Amino acid sequence: TEMSNIGNSMNILWHECPIQKLDRQQLLQQKGCVIWLTGLSGSGKSTLACALSRSLHSKGKLTYILDGDNIRHGLNRDLSFRAEDRSENIRRIGEVSKLLADAGVICIASLISPYRKDRDACRALLPEGDFIEEVLHFHCKVYNPLNLQMLQVFIDVPLDVCEARDPKGLYKLARAGKIKGFTGIDDPYEPPYSCEIVLQQKGSECMSPSDTAEIVISYLEKNGYLL
Ligand code: PPS
Repeated sequence: TEMSNIGNSMNILWHECPIQKLDRQQLLQQKGCVIWLTGLSGSGKSTLACALSRSLHSKGKLTYILDGDNIRHGLNRDLSFRAEDRSENIRRIGEVSKLLADAGVICIASLISPYRKDRDACRALLPEGDFIEEVLHFHCKVYNPLNLQMLQVFIDVPLDVCEARDPKGLYKLARAGKIKGFTGIDDPYEPPYSCEIVLQQKGSECMSPSDTAEIVISYLEKNGYLL
């Protein structure tokens, strides 16, 4: 439509400022990037986001959490859980995280983001994500961690564990048919084929949020995100 193309209009010009991402990164002593946490409801995304933010903050690093639940109270208050609206939720959060990464911030996006194509579209938004290998079998790309601006972290907790936790009682409502299209129950969750970090729950033993945060932080350290 005319409206959706408005950003591509020839009358809108890109304005460049001499202070750029590199300057901001220098100031902050970190690389702006997006840590994208994906997983089922109740898998522990928000808890991990918070543990990560705390730990990085205590190391003097600037982080900002974009939590699906919270953003649905403001920027995305007009969106439902229908497939198109979830896609739009993810697209907008992808665009906001791109701005935050450009600001030099370590942005932690925490949302179910159940559909592979939407997560991949967010990756594609971030300019330095040049890939090093295309894995044809899986129709996916493996990215160079040193250039990557978006790190996908899959919190791989089985549905039955999330359902047993049911922190908000939503699985129960979904099973009773009182919520339609609930992820994992009657709406799909498509796990990533390839991502930078998989945090896998082994058996019923639950990893502590600070342990899982440590895994992500050592990845950031190893790959030069914390200058
Ligand atoms: S999505 O799919 O990425 O757009 O979802 P997100 O923005 O992360 O919002 C997920 C939280 O919304 C609550 N909720 C639902 N989740 C899944 N499916 C349906 N139908 C639904 N309705 C409400 C749920 O509490 C999710 O919270 P988290 O924090 O993930 O547990």
